[in-house]
Amino acid sequence: KPIETTPVMQGLDNLCNMEEGRLSGKIFWDQEIYEQELEKIFARCWLFVAHESQLPKPGDYLTTTMGEDEVIVVRQKDMSIKVLINACPHRGNKVCFAEAGNARGFVCNYHGWAFGPDGALRGMHESKAYEESGFDKSKHGLREVAQVDSYKGLVFATFDPEAPSLEEYLGPITWYLDVIFDMDEGGTEFLGGCIRSTYECNWKVAAENFVGDILHGGWTHDSAARAMLGGPVVNVGELPESYAVNWNGHGYEFATDGIGNAAVLGEREINKYLHELRPKVAERLGEFRAQLTGAISSCTIFPNFSFLPGQNTVRVWQPRGPNKIELYTWVVVNKNAPERIKELWRRGAMMTFSPTGVFEMDDGENWEYCTKTSRGVVTRYQDLYVGLGMNTYLPDSELPGNVFKGQINEANSRAFYQRWKDMLQSESWKDVPDRNNGKLK
Ligand code: FES
Ligand code: FE
Repeated sequence: KPIETTPVMQGLDNLCNMEEGRLSGKIFWDQEIYEQELEKIFARCWLFVAHESQLPKPGDYLTTTMGEDEVIVVRQKDMSIKVLINACPHRGNKVCFAEAGNARGFVCNYHGWAFGPDGALRGMHESKAYEESGFDKSKHGLREVAQVDSYKGLVFATFDPEAPSLEEYLGPITWYLDVIFDMDEGGTEFLGGCIRSTYECNWKVAAENFVGDILHGGWTHDSAARAMLGGPVVNVGELPESYAVNWNGHGYEFATDGIGNAAVLGEREINKYLHELRPKVAERLGEFRAQLTGAISSCTIFPNFSFLPGQNTVRVWQPRGPNKIELYTWVVVNKNAPERIKELWRRGAMMTFSPTGVFEMDDGENWEYCTKTSRGVVTRYQDLYVGLGMNTYLPDSELPGNVFKGQINEANSRAFYQRWKDMLQSESWKDVPDRNNGKLK
């Protein structure tokens, strides 16, 4: 539905100017901007909801949120996946409280409406009263999310029937996603459950960190790296070849020579596994991408799905107000990897990028204060700098996407915030400007 343009929205160009590489803290604190984000970004974009491996059998389900809307992701009898709104169409009570499980259907606690796994209303407590009122069951099922699709095991959904296809939405970034999600013929799976934690930070701060902020790695994580790995984080600025690549606000940044670096955090057995797999990966994906399997890299799919290849931590930054997120974290592994390697990956992720992980704690504190300083009426209008690596666009690169030279570069952050602003300022998908192919430096 069209959303009125409010004074804050009219002032957006001043709060976020990517040609000049500057931002205002207000975009991390303002309630009105947040409400617009929920409507114009989270209710329109493709959002990650599950990995197919989490729902192997018909009736398997998990609950998650799309923005702040609660949904149930459920495997159907025909093995397709539906995403249903987790709110009863009678009076709105939540119908499924478990995080995951297998069920023949969902029954609402309040007045006993019972839904099938496809969301259809099957029956009600005191059904005779409904019959006498001429109630039409077929019109009162759980609402279905408009579009659901998957890419290499990653299931995404969007509330917007007009949204472009998932393939178009992801664009050439899929070429990079394959480095992790298609490196092995057996595909990937999520290990164990979902870890949920909260931060008092704005969702964009975290999403932007993964879209391309390796700059903080060698500084923020230096002491943790020394304590855990016995040495500093690899000096990315000195690696011979590295890139920042973006497309429609998604970003992937990487160095080409990675395995054995801090990427898998010194875990020799995982490094060995990746080394041994490398010729096979080269056969599947080519030499160039085979080099990237354990490289120092990170990725965000706009708006809030991120992962770190190598550490294999996958996460969604769930918005919970302008200054709070709920972080959902999983560990992804190759399905065909030996059990021992899977376990090492799980443990590695727990020790680094999980609520108990030392690297995560380093990040969390920074992100919370990047958000909290903006509560000040003066600090929220301070210009923040996002100008690193202007004019590093590589027009002749043969790599897919908008390619920028060097990982120490804020090109992906600029692309992320530009997309954010474009989505907020566009009334429909048709109006969202194309910033690809060198149009945004
Ligand atoms: Fe669900 Fe009444 S609110 S049955
Ligand atoms: Fe970090």
